[in-house]
Amino acid sequence: MSQRVALITGSGKRIGAATASLLLSEGWFVFLHVRNSLDEARTILQDFHDKHGVSPAAEILQADLNSDEEISSLIDTVLRHEIVENNGGLHALVHNASIYNSTDFEEVSLETLRLNNRIHIEVPFLLTQGLLPLLKSAQGCVIGMVDTSVGRAWNGLSHYTASKAGLRQLMINLAGDLAPEVRVNCVGPGAIVAAEWESEHFESVLQSVPLGRAGDVDDVAKAVQFLLDSPYLSGQIINVDGGWSIAP
Ligand SMILES: NC(=O)c1ccc[n+]([C@@H]2O[C@H](COP(=O)([O-])OP(=O)(O)OC[C@H]3O[C@@H](n4cnc5c(N)ncnc54)[C@H](OP(=O)(O)O)[C@@H]3O)[C@@H](O)[C@H]2O)c1
Repeated sequence: MSQRVALITGSGKRIGAATASLLLSEGWFVFLHVRNSLDEARTILQDFHDKHGVSPAAEILQADLNSDEEISSLIDTVLRHEIVENNGGLHALVHNASIYNSTDFEEVSLETLRLNNRIHIEVPFLLTQGLLPLLKSAQGCVIGMVDTSVGRAWNGLSHYTASKAGLRQLMINLAGDLAPEVRVNCVGPGAIVAAEWESEHFESVLQSVPLGRAGDVDDVAKAVQFLLDSPYLSGQIINVDGGWSIAP
């Protein structure tokens, strides 16, 4: 029987890991892409085995997405993989890998700006373009993990929010360009899991979240699953943010 196949970038930890685990438990074949989190990704697969008594349908693919060679090699590996050949292509591509650091605007280096644009815009562009034949043949869905910064000013994060705005617009544009074969959507997590540097500040952020608490990684994973399972949804952004984006 044919199986749906997904590639999730940056899926060794946190939101990406929760999304990979959910799709695995729904019977998907998942390519878990990681850069450094190889052990964490192996733990996801071991946990699945311990829980279900069988090995998950999955493969871990390692690549530094800041390297042209490693991006090309990741694309080639998926294009040539027997699992996509046997299952009609790639049904989901989730652009989840991200970097997130706060720096005063005066201190942001060109290198930092370029790295944010690289990971949040160039990589999703190149992976979507490179894997397009597989996405088309499976009538797949691309999902960009954005955030809720659109239209708002986040202190010390201009390099990050500008690049996520680029990803959001790239996804919206591709929803038009790639229709009708491929659907393209976004998920915008709000305050879900704090980065190490913002753990103190995170509590004050939560005070402006209408639901009054942080979200869970599984809340975001379920939004991804919902979009993948909704064949008439394209060009949409689901904010998983406890109402943060509409708070006064
Ligand atoms: N956490 C939140 O509350 C929140 C809020 C708003 C939006 N989001 C968005 O939701 C998504 C997931 O959030 P998260 O906090 O779980 O993400 P994260 O932990 O900040 O990053 C996810 C993964 O990105 C990978 N990555 C970073 N640079 C890479 C590179 N050069 N090459 C390859 N992989 C690289 C890392 O993989 P390795 O660990 O393998 O190196 C990392 O584990 C992100 O797109 C984020 O912007 C999250």
